[in-house]
Amino acid sequence: MQNKNLYLLLFLSFLISITGCSKQTTPQNTTVTSPSGNILVAFQLDKNGAPVYLVNYKDKAVIDTSSLGFEFKDQAPMANGFKLIGAANTSFAETWEMPWGEQRVVNNNYNELIVRLQEINAPKRKLNIYFRAHDDGIGFRYEFPQQKGVDSLIIMDENTQFKLTADHTVWWCPGDWDSYEHPYYTTRFSAIDAQKMNGSALVNTSCIPENAVNTPVTMRTDNGLYLSFHEADLLDYAGITLKINPVSLSMTSALVGSERLGYKVKRALPFKTPWRTIQISESAKDLITSRLILNLNEPNKIGDVSWVKPQKYVGVWWEMHIDKATWDMASGRHGATTANAKRYIDFAAANNIGGVLVEGWNTGWEHWVGFEDREGVFDFVTPYPDYDLPEVVRYAKEKGVDIIMHHETSSAPRTYEQQLEKAYTLMQSLGIHAVKTGYVGKIIPNGEHHHSQWMVRHYQKVYETAAKYQIAVDVHEPIMDTGTRRTYPNAISREGLRGQEYNAWSADGGNLPEHISIVAFTRMLAGPIDFTPGVFDIAIASKPNNQVNTTLAQQLALYVVIYSPIQMACDLPENYEGQPAFQFIRDVGVDWEQTVVLNGEVGDFVTIAREERGTGNWFIGSVTDENKRDIEVIFNFLPAGVNYQAKIYQDGPRAHYRDNPRDIKIEEMIVTNETVKIFTLAPGGGLAISLKTVK
Ligand code: NOJ
Ligand code: CA
Repeated sequence: MQNKNLYLLLFLSFLISITGCSKQTTPQNTTVTSPSGNILVAFQLDKNGAPVYLVNYKDKAVIDTSSLGFEFKDQAPMANGFKLIGAANTSFAETWEMPWGEQRVVNNNYNELIVRLQEINAPKRKLNIYFRAHDDGIGFRYEFPQQKGVDSLIIMDENTQFKLTADHTVWWCPGDWDSYEHPYYTTRFSAIDAQKMNGSALVNTSCIPENAVNTPVTMRTDNGLYLSFHEADLLDYAGITLKINPVSLSMTSALVGSERLGYKVKRALPFKTPWRTIQISESAKDLITSRLILNLNEPNKIGDVSWVKPQKYVGVWWEMHIDKATWDMASGRHGATTANAKRYIDFAAANNIGGVLVEGWNTGWEHWVGFEDREGVFDFVTPYPDYDLPEVVRYAKEKGVDIIMHHETSSAPRTYEQQLEKAYTLMQSLGIHAVKTGYVGKIIPNGEHHHSQWMVRHYQKVYETAAKYQIAVDVHEPIMDTGTRRTYPNAISREGLRGQEYNAWSADGGNLPEHISIVAFTRMLAGPIDFTPGVFDIAIASKPNNQVNTTLAQQLALYVVIYSPIQMACDLPENYEGQPAFQFIRDVGVDWEQTVVLNGEVGDFVTIAREERGTGNWFIGSVTDENKRDIEVIFNFLPAGVNYQAKIYQDGPRAHYRDNPRDIKIEEMIVTNETVKIFTLAPGGGLAISLKTVK
């Protein structure tokens, strides 16, 4: 590692050599530092006029000199031969409010550098690059400005490089063009081998063309610095994967492609790419409270969203995943009947749960997974004959419960788009304000991928159309969140990871006990997760070969650890009846005034406290991996002088995720901001605490 001054000196001499202006007294500044001064980004053109940048943290390089560029169809690549035609530094500071979220008030402070480049030789194309330095990381994006002779561009790939400074420890998922539903692996950077995972029994529908990783990908340097790489504001562009070069210890962007169209991105000028982001922090826990990715998105574009309701929900769902019922009607074991939906509505109404999801209500389920010709099959307005949709909605309303609509597209997005207006008109007429969508299977048309530009556009069209009908959307098999919920706050939640469902049926024994302690520092940095916590029948009585690899206390902790404004209580009502631990799910909030991460280490454990909006109540969740662990909770995040009635749900003395997952101890005590307490978490265990102010 070299120090900042040396880099700056080198850059200065680069600048002088390429501009040939050794007499120039004030060379343009092409660096930018974060408001705190800890992070520095320096841009430069090297001796070939190739754009390069580096990133320092506290005077030490965290990203070595790395290259930037593009390849196009029918055009020379943009890689070198540029001159600097302008540079400007600006500063920005604002606070803004999240309509719903992990916290209400967000600070957005940064310094920005814009560099304007032009090719020295014909065709003299122009390219601008924006670099933003925040205190919690950096973002940079390219802009193709309006220019003579170029109306649109067909991008064959974007070559954004991230050159690491050493062989860091990495928490990664294979760079898959269709699925984020892989387990996370922990290896040194040089040992990443994504393709080894391709075709393994662990993988759902997937395309992993190179040794690449999906983002967010998180790393720890041997000096204890944390880095997480992702993107922000992904609209009308292809999703990113990062190609791994295990020898040079560098990553280069590889955009998700389309074999159907033969390119990665097509756009008319002018346009800006998504931000390339690096979150940087000295502790793992600060990654979770970083709002860099949200801050790099545009403010709310859809206006009033008071109809977006953060809430808990139950649903006709887990019973299909554990083979007790089916989505289709032909089997004779149909889950979505009027009577069954009413049973869930009654349960929700009695237990402080606002929503009920009913999957399998509409026709088409006889012909989805396993069928090639899925176009025109699902119908989003026609219920099965044993499901009386208006009656279910009427009954729910009478009980004060909202129905959550379900639209499984079976990855036939054109069929869905054809019916969007009709389907949302029906929802509007019934007063339904939320839909869960799904994209199971290979995308039709062939050659498209879940994360390609064509699909990014599709998901966007769904959000925009839904907003017109005051509908919030929870997408399964989504494009990864990149903070666009700031701009479109009806984008309430997404799957985009191995969710709870894998515990019901995956052949590999389900999610490992360490899963959530990795997810909290990787996938969760992207945005809300519809994980569907709350399994109480942990051994899954009806599935002898499957079980959930957590204790019951960990299932409770997930409501706080995992952030989503909609949280399912996913188990069957009968598994909750008479269970004292269910009180935590009745009580827990879903919309937060603030979030404090008390402690955590990637892949090991994490403890999060969140204050509920409007009540002043706090909730704490803590999870550990396969190791038993003592967690110290220092309650000094609470306001002084207030007494809280704490209800503590912790692993019992004999609890173990494998053979004794339901051993739980529930006790109450008074807690103040001076309380300090140590809790023992079992292997695969957890801790959940509700804290209500004592009036
Ligand atoms: C996959 C989703 O993740 C799951 O939640 C849903 O039940 C099925 N698709 C059916 O739509
Ligand atoms: Ca899924």
